Formats: sequence, structure tokens, C-alpha cells
Amino acid sequence: MNEKMNRLEFLKSLGLKGASLFAVYCAASGLSSCINESMDPTLPPGTGGNANELILDLNDSNYSKLNTTGSYVIVSGIVIARISTTAFAAVTQVCSHEGKRKVTFRSGEFYCSEHGAKFDTNGKGLNSAGKKGLKTYPTELTGTSLKVTLG
Ligand code: FES
Repeated sequence: MNEKMNRLEFLKSLGLKGASLFAVYCAASGLSSCINESMDPTLPPGTGGNANELILDLNDSNYSKLNTTGSYVIVSGIVIARISTTAFAAVTQVCSHEGKRKVTFRSGEFYCSEHGAKFDTNGKGLNSAGKKGLKTYPTELTGTSLKVTLG
């Protein structure tokens, strides 16, 4: 953990969250590091990371449902599902069929409600509407912190 992260943790420990944390962190860190490392202020509490990764705190109420197999959340256009006691899957919310932002997770599959495209947890299409597959993103759980690598 570098010094900047420690500062961020310190600010979090003061009880600052979301936009107010973002503002204080930027002021304390200086503009250049803010541009390089800033969290998206529109992300909900419990979310960290940068342009290349999302980090979800599974203890936070926004994401605690990911402790239950079969549940999912949508963050910044990414559908993140708990697919087993040990594994997660993350895919784009944008369907490869006609580009609708309607992909969710149900019954162990990713599913688009627009025309019923289905995809497995590796993004492989399971029917004709889903035949182009879905973009997937690697996930990694460390303790209660789930990282989704975007870039
Ligand atoms: S846009 Fe998703 S099934 Fe057609």
C-alpha cells in the first residue's frame, strides 16, 4: 500500500464517503494525483479503483449481496455476479445482439431482457441472440475486496 492509499484510508476512517471523500482526497493529494488516481465521484460508497479497475468492498451494504451465490450487482456498466462459493464473473452490461444495456444475471447465466440473449459465465453465447458472446473482465477476491480488472 503506498502513501496515497494510506491517506485515502485515513480519510475514510474519518467517516467521509463518496463525493465528500473525493473532494477532500483531491484537495489533500494535489491536482496531478487526483487526475491520475481519482475515483469516479459518481460511484457508490464501497467502490474504489481507477480507470483500469473497480474494487468493491463486500462488507459495504451496496455490495454485500455478492456474498450470496447467484446474486449480482451492476457498477459502471459492468454486471458482476457471484457464480459459486469461490468464484465471480464480470461482463459488460451492453448486449452484443443489438447493443441494449440490459444484461443481468439469473439462473446461473447472463441474460438480456430485450430479446432473450443468454450467455454463460465465460461470456459464451448460449442461443442465437447471444451468439456473438459478451465481453468479460477478470475478477479477483482478496479478503472482502473484489477487484474487477477493466483495462
Ligand atoms: S439486444 Fe440483447 S437480446 Fe437483443
